Amino acid sequence: MAKVITFTNQKGGVGKTTSSSALISGLAMRDYKVLGIDLDPQGNLGFYFGVDIENHISIYDVFKGQNTIKEAIFHGEHCDIIPSNILLSGAEIEFNQFGREYLLKNVLAQLHDHYDFIIIDTPPSLNVLTVNAYVASDYLIIPMVPEILSLLGVSQIKETFLAVQKFYNSKLSILGILLTKYNGRTILAREVLEMSEKIASQLDTLVLESKIRPAVVVAESPAHGISIFEYAPNSNPAADYNSFVDELLSKL
Ligand SMILES: Nc1ncnc2c1ncn2[C@@H]1O[C@H](COP(=O)(O)OP(=O)(O)O)[C@@H](O)[C@H]1O
Ligand SMILES: [Mg+2]
Repeated sequence: MAKVITFTNQKGGVGKTTSSSALISGLAMRDYKVLGIDLDPQGNLGFYFGVDIENHISIYDVFKGQNTIKEAIFHGEHCDIIPSNILLSGAEIEFNQFGREYLLKNVLAQLHDHYDFIIIDTPPSLNVLTVNAYVASDYLIIPMVPEILSLLGVSQIKETFLAVQKFYNSKLSILGILLTKYNGRTILAREVLEMSEKIASQLDTLVLESKIRPAVVVAESPAHGISIFEYAPNSNPAADYNSFVDELLSKL
C-alpha cells in the first residue's frame, strides 16, 4: 500500500508546490517508487517535472470519466506525475454529484500497489479539490512562511481537517508544519517559530525540525526542469529538503 501525503495550506506562495516537488524527487532519489499528483488548476507541479500540461491527459479528464487514471500518468525519468491544468478550476461547480468527495480516493485505489508514496499538491483554497486530497490521504503537511499574517487562517485548515476526519477518513493525521523561506537567525523568525509552535499544538501536531532556508536557486530550478537536488546540490535549500525527506521517513 502506498502512503499518501498531501501538502496543504489555503494560502498561496507558502511553498506547497516547491515542497511537493522536493519530496517527490527526494524520495525517488532514495529509490522509492513515487507518484506526484497535481490538484491545483495552475498546473505548476506538472510543469516542474517537464510535463506539457496543456496537451497531456490530466486529473480533470480522469474525474470527468473521459480517461482512466493510468492514461493520465506521465512517466518521468525518476518518478511518475499526474498533471493538472486550468480545466480543473471549474471543479467546484462541475463536480456536484453525490460522492464527489471520493473522486480521487476511488481512482487511486487502482494505483496503491504500484507505488511506495503518492504525493499530492493542492490549490491555495479549501474546496472540493482539497477535500478530495484529504479524503484520499494518510497524512497532511502544512507548509508556512515566516510572516505573521501567513500564520493566521490556520483555523480554517483545522475545521476542514476535523470534518474530513470525522465524516470521511478517520485515519487522516497531520505530520507537521513545515517552515519554508525560513532564516532562523532573525529575531522575527524566532517569534514566528514560537507562534508556529502554538498553532501546531492547536492542530495536535508539531513544527518539523527541518526548516527550509530561502535562496533564489529555488525559484530558478523549475525553469530548468530539474529538481533542486540536481540544480543546486550544494545550496541551503537542497540540504534542508534532504533533511526534511529523512525526517519524514523517520516518522512514517
Ligand atoms: N526556500 C525558498 N527560497 C526562495 N524562494 C522560495 C523558497 N520556497 C519557495 N520559493 C518561491 O516562492 C514562490 C511560491 O512557492 P510555491 O512552492 O509555488 O508556493 P505555493 O505552491 O504554496 O503557492 C515560488 O516562486 C517559489 O520558487
Ligand atoms: Mg502551488
